[in-house]
Amino acid sequence: MVATGTGLRNDVDEILPGVIADRRFLHEHPELGFQEVETSRFVAERLAAMGVEDIRTGIAKTGVTGLVRGQREGGAAKTLLIRADMDALPIQEENDVEYRSKHDGVMHACGHDAHTAMLLGVTRLLLDRRDDFTGTVKVLFQPAEEGPGGAKPMIEAGVLEDPKVDAALGMHMAQAAPLGQIGVRTGPAMAASDRFEILIQGKGGHGARPQATVDPIMVGSQIVVALQTVVSRETDPTVPAVVTVGAFLAGQAFNVIPDTATLRGTVRSFDNDERQRLAERIEAVAKGIGGAMRAEVEVQYHFGYPPTVNDAGMTDIVRRAAAGVVGTENVIEEDLHMGAEDMSYFLEAVPGSFFFVGSKNDEKGLVWGHHHPRFDIDEAALSTGMATMVESALGYLNG
Ligand code: NI
Repeated sequence: MVATGTGLRNDVDEILPGVIADRRFLHEHPELGFQEVETSRFVAERLAAMGVEDIRTGIAKTGVTGLVRGQREGGAAKTLLIRADMDALPIQEENDVEYRSKHDGVMHACGHDAHTAMLLGVTRLLLDRRDDFTGTVKVLFQPAEEGPGGAKPMIEAGVLEDPKVDAALGMHMAQAAPLGQIGVRTGPAMAASDRFEILIQGKGGHGARPQATVDPIMVGSQIVVALQTVVSRETDPTVPAVVTVGAFLAGQAFNVIPDTATLRGTVRSFDNDERQRLAERIEAVAKGIGGAMRAEVEVQYHFGYPPTVNDAGMTDIVRRAAAGVVGTENVIEEDLHMGAEDMSYFLEAVPGSFFFVGSKNDEKGLVWGHHHPRFDIDEAALSTGMATMVESALGYLNG
């Protein structure tokens, strides 16, 4: 008999104070992407003290992995990867709490402190249940989710091999959802995030003699307007996509036509074909308008995180596990997020699911969103997240 249900709830309650203490320690000592040196050491020490096997550190600078091997006989011995991110944000914390950030200008304002602490708790709970499952759990703590991305270099460093990973799970605190809710979504869940820079070379001159110039501000303005039609006139209206020009840099003086202009923008999409098409059309539209208006246009396109796509079978496992923890009525179908996540690289490589743990509490004033200087979570969400993750892991490995 697998010790889940009430047994799990009791065990989660028992370790919760320790997990909260870990989360607060991490919150007090936030570190930016690829600089998670203290965090990484803290994680590795915790794993070693628990007796986790095969602890590897320094992967993609600060990443850590470890193994929990099930002892139950029989069944297919699969390997499940459970991932947490460790990095903080360049934000000055405005919360007046005893565990407030001690690092000036750096803050865990997205909940990655909670993700790391929860995965340490999940590791403890799975170690205590080794006799109840077949196969292996690989716990993975990654750097730099907020950018430039730690998942991809960890995969390139071989974390999906030795032992070969068959499936992956991850979770994120959700301040848009109340405590006690779990959000799941089959298929695309979070957007691909790409960016571009358009360099317009015109010909500067006197503002009163436009005939002697090629005005890059006019060219850029036409490009900004035309780029909006790439979504509004060329993309299937039932397929979500966004093109935003967030920067238009040109000129200094009221009576001078500058030589150059630069546009910078972001593109969000959920489907790889659509993503490719948007990139091609943005370049073609910008260059076409430049050509028509006598300017030289160069387009630099940077593909960022791919879309986060949840596998149907893995998401069903999470949905069932979450229902057992919070009740069917509190398992919600998550809305599409236009934000991006580098969990997407793991989910591109193996089937998996990324779910959302409600952490907002109106009564306690814990209402501020992710990346806000007053972001904070209801720590009771740590127990909801851990219980759902442990049940999901056992559901997959024993299923
Ligand atoms: Ni995040």
